[in-house]
Amino acid sequence: MMKLPKLFLFAVALELASCQSPTIAPLADHALLPYPNTVRSGESALNINTIQNLSIDADFSDLGQQIAQEWEMHTTNALEVTEAGNAQLRFSLDDQVDGSEEAYSLEIDKKKIVIKAKAEVGLFRAWQTLKQLITLRQLTPEKDYLPTGVIQDNPVYAYRGTMLDVSRHFFSVDEVKRYIDLIAPYKINYLHLHLSDDQGWRIEIKSWPELTRVGGSTEVGGGEGGFYTQEQYKELVDYAQKQFITLVPEIDMPGHTNAALASYAELNCNGKATDLYTGTEVGFSTLCVEKEVTYQFVEDVIRELSAMTPGPYIHIGGDESHVTPKKDFITFINRVYDIVPKYNKIPIGWDEVQLADMPQPSVAQYWANAENALAAKQKGAKILISPAAYAYLDMKYDSLTVSGLKWAGYVPLEKGYSWNPDALVDGIENADILGVEAPLWSETISNSPEMEYLAFPRLLGYAEIGWTMPSIRQWEAYKKRLAVHGKLLDQKGVNYYKSPAIAWE
Ligand code: ACM
Repeated sequence: MMKLPKLFLFAVALELASCQSPTIAPLADHALLPYPNTVRSGESALNINTIQNLSIDADFSDLGQQIAQEWEMHTTNALEVTEAGNAQLRFSLDDQVDGSEEAYSLEIDKKKIVIKAKAEVGLFRAWQTLKQLITLRQLTPEKDYLPTGVIQDNPVYAYRGTMLDVSRHFFSVDEVKRYIDLIAPYKINYLHLHLSDDQGWRIEIKSWPELTRVGGSTEVGGGEGGFYTQEQYKELVDYAQKQFITLVPEIDMPGHTNAALASYAELNCNGKATDLYTGTEVGFSTLCVEKEVTYQFVEDVIRELSAMTPGPYIHIGGDESHVTPKKDFITFINRVYDIVPKYNKIPIGWDEVQLADMPQPSVAQYWANAENALAAKQKGAKILISPAAYAYLDMKYDSLTVSGLKWAGYVPLEKGYSWNPDALVDGIENADILGVEAPLWSETISNSPEMEYLAFPRLLGYAEIGWTMPSIRQWEAYKKRLAVHGKLLDQKGVNYYKSPAIAWE
């Protein structure tokens, strides 16, 4: 065959690109996840190699640079970043976009891509959609082409979260960063860190240094545990914030406090420090509700935690305080409720906190007891939906799952996906619901591969429940999209559960 000069080949390819587009699947048929709430397919395609510049408001130039870098990684062509609003990849603010600050519109035509949102966070969510579309196209033969069309998108719930228990087993800064990287593409926007429990205290509190020196020194099974210094915690806050994820720190009280009780004798009613605990029982510990020093401790912790927390929420726990008399529990939670707003934070508590007077604003996290959730709503709290039987990531998939627990039953993929947050409790409607969170407790897991096996792929389903309208969510269609996402998870080296219910590609 005659050897054509390289330049000539390049020119022919470009020529073809500009006058004819290959036939590719329409926009609506791509495995977007969470699936956008409105997708209108066009009838053409855009060659991504023709996109050479990106415009974004000067206030968001960091985001512009971040997108340009990722664009280059995904497409191999470099983008010039400008402030002029007429680039081929255009990000702009627009008050007319329908929905919350996270809402966006994304329009792809044969020559350009135009993204609009009310706020920077909406531009970022739009980029997640576009980046996912580019990545999905790369699994096909026509990988340089994007389908034309319009997406108009707005999340169903403002809070779409997951929780990681770093107390039962400690997870390092790098392990948490990896989790953040894995959840951000699915538009998860809150990461709740369960920072204290019977087995470990994981956050440095400068005014109570023994909490981490003693209370952070072990974990379930007797390993060496660990904790985050305040500097490391702030590093995590910033790392998450760059991906528009807000950390929610939890100090679980008055139960689940053995690590604190082992660190400071004065927090115990009998004035004696407890032994460190490395088992997995629950419900045996309590702060001493009658002592004033307890509230000094709580206030110091909340003050230091609030100073590290730009987000609106502090989680105060409140679950399974089985050895705290009910009257004392109510006294304690009401005192904590007086402290949290002093530091301009909104308290979240597990659903048992409804026994106390729910302040306004406050949030009750429904995990176990529907009556508690309803009572919390009636007292004026917003409800965060995390029913163990549907949304606990530490429940085993089935009898063969090695790690995980089963006290709330098995949660195979279909059970985890096919439910609606507003249909669980009579009397709790969407207007009462802040959002959805999938907690991952770590009694049985101690490293990233084990964490990933329980979290993925179920977490993608919770991300979609949080974002996408129920009328669009169908298990059969979701299964097909999830099968494609297996490849994306493979590319990232995620140790996900390859459920036999999915025809993995
Ligand atoms: C919980 O699972 N104890 C909130």
